[in-house]
Amino acid sequence: MTTYWKVTAGNPDPAIVAEAAVVLQQGGVVAFPTETVYGLGADARQTEAVQQIFTAKGRPSDNPLIVHIANRSQLEELTLPPDEAVSRLLDAFWPGPLTVVLPARPGVLSPLVTAGLSTVGLRMPDHPVALQLIAAAGCPVAAPSANRSGRPSPTHAEHVLEDLTGRIDAIVDGGPTGVGLESTVVEYAAAGPEEASGRGVLHILRPGGITAAQLRGALPGVEVRESSAHTEPAAAPRSPGMKYTHYAPRGVMTLVQGDAPERVLARIQRELDAARARGERTGALTFREHADALRADRVVACGSLGDLESVAQGLYAALREFDEAGISFILAETCPEEGIGAAIMNRLRKAAGDRVIEA
Ligand code: TXA
Ligand code: MG
Repeated sequence: MTTYWKVTAGNPDPAIVAEAAVVLQQGGVVAFPTETVYGLGADARQTEAVQQIFTAKGRPSDNPLIVHIANRSQLEELTLPPDEAVSRLLDAFWPGPLTVVLPARPGVLSPLVTAGLSTVGLRMPDHPVALQLIAAAGCPVAAPSANRSGRPSPTHAEHVLEDLTGRIDAIVDGGPTGVGLESTVVEYAAAGPEEASGRGVLHILRPGGITAAQLRGALPGVEVRESSAHTEPAAAPRSPGMKYTHYAPRGVMTLVQGDAPERVLARIQRELDAARARGERTGALTFREHADALRADRVVACGSLGDLESVAQGLYAALREFDEAGISFILAETCPEEGIGAAIMNRLRKAAGDRVIEA
C-alpha cells in the first residue's frame, strides 16, 4: 500500500509533512518533489531503509545515491570541512540544483548509499516540501529520482505513481517540479603541487540545472571542465550512474541533427514515413516552432526552441507520452548545447542510446 498525500508546493500542510517524516524515521521510503525531479527518499543512515530504495527502483547496487540535506549545519556530520572553492559553490547555488561530491565521513552513512566509494554526493534542494520534510525527519535523506530504473525521471506525481505504486510507502504530491532535469553533479580537485597553473579543477560529472557558465561565474580562477562522457571517457572522473542506459522511452529513439532546420525536418519526415510503411508506430519529438511541420502517430512538442528552460521542463513528460501511446519508433530534434541545452542534449543522447543521424 502506498499512502498518497497532496500538498501545496509553496506552503505544505505541516501535519502531512510531519506524518511523512515519521515514515522516513521509521525506515520507510517516501517520494517527494524537489525543484528538479521527484526523489525517492530514505534515511541515509539506515541500511534496510536504503535497501528499499534500490528494491523499489530496481536500481543496480553499484550506482550511489545523492544525499539531501535541509541545512548547511548537516554538512559537518557527513563530510570534512570543505575547500574554500567548494564553500563558494555552496554559497552561490544552495539551496539549488547542484550536487557536490565530497569525501564521506566514515561510518555515518549506510554503505549502500555510497556504493563502496569513499565519497558522497550532497545536495540541498530548493523546494519547500523537500526542505521541510528533510528538516522534520531530522536525518540526511538519500534520494535518487523516483522512477523505475531505466525510465525517464518523474516530473509529476503521476509519473511516480505510474512507476512505483505499491512498491513504496508513501508519496507527497506537490505538483509538477520546476527545472525538469536532475541536478548538476560536480567534484572539485584542488591543485596539486605538480600543477603549474596553481588552479583547482571543477569536474562536471553530470550536466544539469546549474550550467557550466554559472559555475565559472561563481569560481573565477578555477578551471571548470565539462568532461563529456562522449568525447573523453578516460579523462572523466567516475560517476557510476552515467554508464547506465537512462531516461529511455520504450520505443527506439534516434536523434536527427544538422545546421539547416528545413533539412532536419525533411529527413525526419522521410524516416518517419519509411518506418510507418514498415509497420512501426511512429513518434516525433520536436519543439513548438516545428510541431506543425511533422506528421506521425504522435507528434510531441516539447517546449520552445526560444526558451530552452521550457524544453528541460517538458522533456521527461514528453518521453513518457510516447510510451503511453505505444510508440515503437521515435525521431527527435536536437537543440543548441548552450546553457541548459547541454543538460538537455546529454539526456536526449542517453534516451537515444547515442543513435544520431546527420541531416
Ligand atoms: O536532481 C537530482 O539530483 C535528483 C533529485 C531527486 O535530487 N536526484 C537524482 O539522483 O538524480 P540519481 O540517483 O538519479 O542520480 C545520482 C547521480 C548518479 O549519476 C550517480 O552516479 C551520481 O549522482 N553520484 C552519486 N554519488 C556519487 C559519488 N559519490 N561520486 C560520483 N557520482 C555520484
Ligand atoms: Mg535517476
